[in-house]
This record gives sequence, C-alpha cells and structure tokens, in this order.
Amino acid sequence: MRRKLAAGNWKMNGLKAELDQIDALKASHATPSVDLLLCPPATLVTSAAARLGDHPMMIGGQDCHMEHSGAYTGDISAPMLADAGARAVILGHSERREAHEESDEMIRAKASAAHRAGLITVICVGESLAQREAANTLDIIGGQLSASVPDNSTGENLVIAYEPIWAIGTGKVPTTDQIGEVHDFMRDRLERRFGAGVGRSTRLLYGGSVKPGNAAEIFAVSNVDGALVGGASLKAADFSPIIEALE
Ligand code: G3P
Repeated sequence: MRRKLAAGNWKMNGLKAELDQIDALKASHATPSVDLLLCPPATLVTSAAARLGDHPMMIGGQDCHMEHSGAYTGDISAPMLADAGARAVILGHSERREAHEESDEMIRAKASAAHRAGLITVICVGESLAQREAANTLDIIGGQLSASVPDNSTGENLVIAYEPIWAIGTGKVPTTDQIGEVHDFMRDRLERRFGAGVGRSTRLLYGGSVKPGNAAEIFAVSNVDGALVGGASLKAADFSPIIEALE
C-alpha cells in the first residue's frame, strides 16, 4: 500500500521569516496520516529541518549536483543536502530542464547520486503544450521516465511527479482523464522496468496548479498518490487544506 505524499516546492521563494509557515503546518498537522515534504530554497534547508523538531514532515532540496564534491562553484551535492537535514530532493523540474538545460542523462546521474546519499528523489516529468497538442504526451513521458530514472531506484527512494509544463503556475489543469491516462501509463512503465514490487510501490504525484479547490478531485484519480505543489505550498493556509484533501 503506497503512503500518500503531499510535497511543497517553494522554488526561489522564502526568507527566514517564512519559516513560521512550518510552525503553522506543524500545529495543524501534528500527527499527519500522510507523508509531508517541504522543499524550501537551499539557504533554508538547515533551519527548516531544525524547525521541525520531532515532527515527521520531511525537508528537501530542489536540485543537487551529480558529483560528491569538487570544483563546481555554486552547486550543492547530495551528501551536502543530506548533511543539512534534507531527506529528499526534487530533480528534473521543467524549470531546471529549461533554464539550466538539464538533460535526462544529467537528471539520471543526479538522482543516482541522491539515492547513494540516502535521499528520496522526486523526479519530475511533463510535456509542453505543443507536445500535448501534437498527441506526443505519452511518448515524451515514456522517454523522460526511461532516461531520467536511475537503476538504483527502489519503491522507497523514488517518487515521480507528473507536471505538465503548461499547467505550472497557470491555473490550467488537465482533465482528470488526462491525469489518469498519464499516471496509469507511468505505473505500467515502472512495473515493466523494475518489476511489480518497485513499480507498484513507487509514488506518483501530480503537479501543476494544485489548489485547495481542485485537490480532492485530482486525488481521486487512479494512481495519483499525492501532489507536488508550488504556489499553494507557500502559505500554510493554502497548503493545509490540500494536505487534508489527501488524508
Ligand atoms: O513543482 C511544483 C510546480 O511546478 C507546480 O507549481 O505553482 O503550479 O503549483 P504550481
């Protein structure tokens, strides 16, 4: 049985003052029945992890380097994230695939490094609007999945987030049929590659304009095990009802 996961991606938002959102989440979800993950900017990982105390919420990074250490100015390695208190890392977000020209091969190497460092990876896949309109969605998702997901994945350390690029921050959300089609496809692909054990225990998240008002409908879709939430994760008042819809 897969445990549901509500994950928040703060992207490049948040100063120390915003850590009080963690206090608010702790207060409203003292004993959550789903897994919680919050990925603040790297500058806040250490203090966010400290702020949790013994609360089961996880803190994660938003990217990591594929190497353990070295002359890579400005980068952060997976062991560094783990050392700072992170238990997970988002990899291959479309904003990094686009703005930082990250290829599937780079994402796979980063994910492999993150797994070796003991981190859970949330590997993002998703099609552009042009790709969807050209009826290429499943080909794109299939290609990203096979090339971005490393062989050292397990049902415990791998989470996939389906984030259609055209739904991110736009208020546009695919229909539940469209989400279901992609999630069923991803489940099938993972089972074929890794076998039923890993394939069935890997959690599949939906991401892209998830809000308190649409969360329940999205979570009712087959093979949707939770959400990767951007804008609505910045305020506990918005993230909290999404968590409740999953519980
Ligand atoms: O990683 C989360 C994401 O890209 C979705 O962002 O703001 O549409 O929820 P948003």
